[in-house]
Amino acid sequence: MTPRTYAPPRLGARIDLDLSKNEGPRSDRISLNVIDRIDDLVRRYPDTSDLRSRLAGMHGLSPDQILLTAGGDDALFRCFLSRSGSGAFAVATRPTFEMIPIYADQVGVRLVEVGWPGGPFPIRAFVDAARGADVAFVVSPNNPTGSVITESDLRSIAEAVPLVVLDAAYAEFADVDPTPVALSLGNVVVVRTLSKAYGLAGLRVGYLLGPDDLIDEIGSHGGPYPVSALSAAIALQRLDDREGVRSTIMEIRSERAAFAETLSGLGVRSRPSQGNFVLVEHADADQIAETCAELGIGVRRFPGRPGLEQAIRITMPGNAADFARLERAITTALSRIPHPPTRPADPEEVPR
Ligand SMILES: Cc1ncc(COP(=O)(O)O)c(C=O)c1O
Repeated sequence: MTPRTYAPPRLGARIDLDLSKNEGPRSDRISLNVIDRIDDLVRRYPDTSDLRSRLAGMHGLSPDQILLTAGGDDALFRCFLSRSGSGAFAVATRPTFEMIPIYADQVGVRLVEVGWPGGPFPIRAFVDAARGADVAFVVSPNNPTGSVITESDLRSIAEAVPLVVLDAAYAEFADVDPTPVALSLGNVVVVRTLSKAYGLAGLRVGYLLGPDDLIDEIGSHGGPYPVSALSAAIALQRLDDREGVRSTIMEIRSERAAFAETLSGLGVRSRPSQGNFVLVEHADADQIAETCAELGIGVRRFPGRPGLEQAIRITMPGNAADFARLERAITTALSRIPHPPTRPADPEEVPR
């Protein structure tokens, strides 16, 4: 069978505000201040030790506990590679970040998926399914629902499987960052990225944090230079702008709350989200997405993804003008729908 590939729906040419990919907002403080070093930066293989040390320091770790990767994607892929082999099996939730089942297919790891439509983590079902698994993948805040796992559920999973990969790509937007607890457990590695809160998706800089022996072992899978010298230099510059990053995160968190309120005022319920996006569920999801597209705004639909037939994922733009435009568009889209919206099941009612 041909492995699945990543093929999100294409946005039409008329889109000038793309809110479909959970990218972070634009920063006006990024400049190519490496121009005087450009000759060496492009000629030599990258030395990314400064970036590694800086990120390790940010998390209070030593550089041996961090693996730089080409985005969080590459970190996940290396985790899969490190656990591939005959009879290998992994467990994850459904829905979750779509590259997880795709990578499982690509490396031939059998993936068992446990439903987590939102609300509390389905810990009993997950631990049952994880019996005998080589690795568990947990995304928190989860994409596309925005739900989070609790510390005690994470501990229970770490007791049940030899390796847990916690994908915390959206941790900066959450009330609680699960990274410190995860790293205290001894068999958990954490995927992080500069693509979201730092707004650097185009640079492809991610990293994996964990105990040094696991980092060493997982790092032995894949190529030796996942992050280019230019990416590393610009990433370091962005990490210096702590105030800029902090205010972006605050802006997105407040947009997320305001958007949920707007939706609720329009009679539509959204899932409580801890990411930089909101998942809206509506019987007329296609029509809403179509109206947004007509108004130049791209949102994410999930064709062929079970359980997401009525879902639209919308990235919070992180600036007032675009946010006002999004609110106008969603109001217009809902005003064109003649009958009352379908309410999703209350996440609290989802069986554990
Ligand atoms: C949960 C999650 N993990 C990882 C990634 C990969 O991000 P990147 O490879 O840009 O770091 C994404 C991107 O959308 C994501 O949603």
